Amino acid sequence: GLKEIRIGVIGYGIRSNVLIGAFGAFEQIALAAVADPSAKARDKAARDHPGAALFEDFRQMLDSGGVDAVLIESPPNTHAECAIEALSRGVHVLCDVPAVHEIDEAQRLWDAGTRSKAIYSFGATTNFWGYVDTCVALKDKGLLGKPFYCEAEYVADLGDLPTVTPWRKHYEPIRYCTHSLGPILKWVDEDLREVSCFDTGSHVHGDPDDHDAMVAIYRTQSRVVVKLLISFCNSHPAPFHRYVYHGTKGYFEKTHSLAGGETQVLFSTKEIYGMDGLTRLPVTESRPELSDVPGVGEHGGADYAMLKDFTDAIAGIKAPAVGMREALRMTLPGLYALKSAQMGGSVVRIAYPWDNG
Ligand SMILES: NC(=O)c1ccc[n+]([C@@H]2O[C@H](COP(=O)([O-])OP(=O)(O)OC[C@H]3O[C@@H](n4cnc5c(N)ncnc54)[C@H](O)[C@@H]3O)[C@@H](O)[C@H]2O)c1
Repeated sequence: GLKEIRIGVIGYGIRSNVLIGAFGAFEQIALAAVADPSAKARDKAARDHPGAALFEDFRQMLDSGGVDAVLIESPPNTHAECAIEALSRGVHVLCDVPAVHEIDEAQRLWDAGTRSKAIYSFGATTNFWGYVDTCVALKDKGLLGKPFYCEAEYVADLGDLPTVTPWRKHYEPIRYCTHSLGPILKWVDEDLREVSCFDTGSHVHGDPDDHDAMVAIYRTQSRVVVKLLISFCNSHPAPFHRYVYHGTKGYFEKTHSLAGGETQVLFSTKEIYGMDGLTRLPVTESRPELSDVPGVGEHGGADYAMLKDFTDAIAGIKAPAVGMREALRMTLPGLYALKSAQMGGSVVRIAYPWDNG
């Protein structure tokens, strides 16, 4: 059989419960331990998973020698530290988004990754969505041409969620850019280099520390422009991710939600006779080929695909689909955008740990 992977979960909240739900599809994954500083969360973990060892501090869990890999599902401002500590002990990491919370954590994470033999895999859920691969394939076949302008929008009114999960309260939405930039950066092969960003402040609740929406405009070295809108406090009735690709030969769009919450995937190309009008493609975020797999989890099979990718990487079958470089490519632009917004929208240059060699 397959070699067992003893997983320690860091942070036992909403998201870790979703992903643990998908563990069942993998015979080699064993939930070995849970670390969470909240006694309430540990009590729930003890009830849900009586066999798992419980720890207040994730470092005790790492030092226990009882875990081969960690799933990092604690709040974003803890991700870099948890990943660095795990990597430095040779423990594999599947880290949820975003990769870092502050710009200066990036270099330390990068160095820890370079020194470690362990796998670092990034929980970039949306990178695994069906239509994201469709767009990659259309581009690879030359039907879209080179992208020159792309857009991503993540609009979801979180309602009471910032009260239930306190890290979301006053969290600047542009920090949460990976679900938007992940797919865009699969289509645009260059790093984002410059950014200007504006913040609406709080019109909805009138809370001076709140942010209804933030908009960032990026540019790459070869002058591809990317516009990003993120809003977690708004009056839109149905949450959505929207993605737009304007290429030299064609156009691709995953729309916002229409009446009933439905979204559409649209495509046109100048390269095929009769396809220069917008055509709706029969593809969504989900992966029909996974529909028979038990417990594939949420996000249309993306969670399953992500865990499969992680277990394959640990088994040495392949490199992780979204490793540390990709993780930082899609995380750092949000943090530099925040810096720009704090400077009234001034253009800020984006630096990456790999810039100097
Ligand atoms: N990829 C996705 O689609 C997706 C979706 C939702 C959330 N997330 C990510 O999941 C993470 C958790 O979000 P959530 O909604 O589950 O939040 P949550 O508040 O429900 O859970 C976080 C848990 O982490 C615990 N925690 C806090 N500090 C900790 C520490 N130092 N060590 C260990 N545990 C600690 C908290 O006590 C809590 O139980 C976030 O980073 C978020 O970005 C990703």
